[in-house]
Amino acid sequence: MCGIVGYIGPKDATPILIGGLKRLEYRGYDSAGVALIDRGALETRRAEGKIARLEGVLAEQPVKGHVGIGHTRWATHGPPSDRNAHPHLSTDNTVAVVHNGIIENADALRKELHRKGHTFRSDTDTEVLSHLIQELFEGSLEEAVIGALRVVEGTYGIAVVSSKDPGKIVGARKGSPLLVGVGDGQYFLASDASAILAHTREVIYLNEGDLAVITADGYRILDINASPIRRSVETIAWDLDAIERGGYEHFMLKEIFEQPQTVANTMRGRLRLEEGTSKLGGLNLSHDELMAIDNIVITACGTSWHSALIGELMIEDMARIPVEVEYASEFRYRNPIVTPATLCIVISQSGETADTLAAMREAKRHGARTLGLVNVVGSTIAREDDGGIYLHAGPEIGVASTKAFTSQVVALALFALKLARKRNLSVTRGREVTQALDLLPNQIQAILDQADAIEAIAESYKDVHNFLYLGRGYNFPAALEGALKLKEISYIHAEGYPAAEMKHGPIALIDEKMPVVFIAPHDSVFEKVVSNIQEVKARGGKTIVITSRDEPALAGLMDHEIRIPETVDMLTPVLASIPLQLLAYYIAVKRGANVDQPRNLAKSVTVE
Ligand code: AGP
Repeated sequence: MCGIVGYIGPKDATPILIGGLKRLEYRGYDSAGVALIDRGALETRRAEGKIARLEGVLAEQPVKGHVGIGHTRWATHGPPSDRNAHPHLSTDNTVAVVHNGIIENADALRKELHRKGHTFRSDTDTEVLSHLIQELFEGSLEEAVIGALRVVEGTYGIAVVSSKDPGKIVGARKGSPLLVGVGDGQYFLASDASAILAHTREVIYLNEGDLAVITADGYRILDINASPIRRSVETIAWDLDAIERGGYEHFMLKEIFEQPQTVANTMRGRLRLEEGTSKLGGLNLSHDELMAIDNIVITACGTSWHSALIGELMIEDMARIPVEVEYASEFRYRNPIVTPATLCIVISQSGETADTLAAMREAKRHGARTLGLVNVVGSTIAREDDGGIYLHAGPEIGVASTKAFTSQVVALALFALKLARKRNLSVTRGREVTQALDLLPNQIQAILDQADAIEAIAESYKDVHNFLYLGRGYNFPAALEGALKLKEISYIHAEGYPAAEMKHGPIALIDEKMPVVFIAPHDSVFEKVVSNIQEVKARGGKTIVITSRDEPALAGLMDHEIRIPETVDMLTPVLASIPLQLLAYYIAVKRGANVDQPRNLAKSVTVE
C-alpha cells in the first residue's frame, strides 16, 4: 500500500517528509520520492528501493523548502523504478502529484493528454493527474485539482503542489485514506497517522469525496463542488505501533478484515457483468493464442498451491481444458510433459518464491507460455513471466497468507471465466459468475461481522492437539488451506482431507478429542458431506460446521455452526476460508503464539 505525507509550515520540510515516509515503511513499498517548493521552484527527488537510497540522492542534490509532499510507492501500474516513483510532474514541471489508488481510465486520459501535447515520462496511471491539473490550471490549484478529479474514474488519495500556486498543498480522498494533521503553526497531510504522530495528535480524517487545501495559515475542507464542509478535529489516542496495524492487534487480523476491499480491488475494472466475462489487461495472450491452449499446468507452493487446486476445478468446469496442478518444488525436478500448447500458470503472492520461480523457468525451457498471478508488482516472477494478473491486494505483512489467497481465487475465477466465455460457456452462466463475484465483498463483510462468535468457538479448542478439516469438491482445497492456517500459526497439528476419503483411514482418529471442521455449504455435494458428518458424530467426534442455510439434515450434527452466505459453488472457498482464517487466528492468539511471525517461517521462501 502506498504512503503519502505532506508538510507546510516554518520548518524545512525535507527532514519532516523523510521522517514521515520512514514511519510508513511497514506498509511495504518499492520506491520513494519527495517534491518541494524551493525558493519558488518545484524540485523533485525520487529513488527506486528503500528510503535510504532517496536519502542518498538528497545528500548529493539537497533540496529545501517549507512546502512539500512525499510518497512511498507500492507498484500497481509499471514496475518499480526511478522513473515510476512518485511524485509525478506535469509537462511544464509546475505541478507534482503523489497518489494512492488505481485510476481505471488512465489509458484513455493518457491518449487525450498526449494528443494535447503532454509528454509522459513514466508507465504509471498516476502521471495523468499531473498533466490534467496543468491543463486545467487557471490560477487556483484546488480548482484545477477538482476539475481533474471530475474526469478520473477509480480510487485515489492524492497530494498536489504547484510552483504556480506555491503556498499550498491540495489533498483529496476517494477510496484511499487521507488525513490532515493540525500542528502549532504547521499543517500536514498523510495517508496514515503514523507518518505525522511525531508532530501532532490532532487530525481531521477526510471522508470519501473530500478535498483539503492546506496553507501556512490553516486548512479548508471542500467537497467536489468546492463548497466548504466542516470536519471535526480528532485526537489520536493510539501509540505508533497500534497505528501501523490500523488499530488491529496483529497485521494478520488487519489483513483478514481488509478482504472486502482487497477482493474488490482484485476485481476493480475487470468485471464485465452484462457480458458475463472479465477484462484482463496483462495476459499478453491474443484470442488465437488463448484458443490454442490445449492443456494447463498450475504450479505454486503452500497457500498458493491451494488456490491452484481451486483454479483447476474452475477452468476444467467452465472452459473444459485439462489442468494439472503441481507443487513447484516437485515440478522443477521432474520431466514434465509441457508443450508450446501448454499454458503454465504460476501463482505467488511474493513473486519471489525460489521453487515457484524455478518451476516457471523450467516450464519456459519446455516452450510453455507462462502467466503469473502475483501480488507484488515488479517481483522476479512478475518480471519474467510472459503475462500476468496482478492481485492488487496490497502488501501482505502477516506471514500466514490470508487476503492474498482470496484474491488469488478471485483472479483465477476471472481468468477461467474469460477463457470459458471464449469457448462454450453461455452468457447466462457467465453472468451467474460475474454477479456472484460482484456480491463477494459484502458477503465477506457479513462473515467478518461474526468474528466474536468465531472467537468464542476458538476458546473451546485452544488446547487441543489435533484437528481434521474436511471438504468436498471446491472445498477440499479450502479444507487444506484451513488446516495450513491453523498449523502454521498455532502449531496445532491439523490435516485437510477430502471428506469422502476419511473412511479410508483417518476415521480411525475420530474420538471426542479430535475436533473436525466440515465445510458444508449448500452446494452440489452437500448431502454427501452430511453423511460424513454423521460418521464423525457416530464416533463421538466434535464438529464445527460451516454451512450456508438452515438445514434439517444437520440437526443434532453440529457442535458449532458458522453460517456463510450462499454463492456459486466455485466461490464457496472464498467465503469458507474467512471463518477458517479467523478460527486459526483466535486459537493462535489464545495460545500466545507469535501470529505475525510464526516460528521457523518466512514470508517469502527465497531458498530451496
Ligand atoms: C501461507 O500461509 C504460507 N505463508 C506459505 O505457504 C506461502 O503461501 C508459500 O510460501 C508460497 O508463497 P508465495 O505465494 O509468496 O509464493
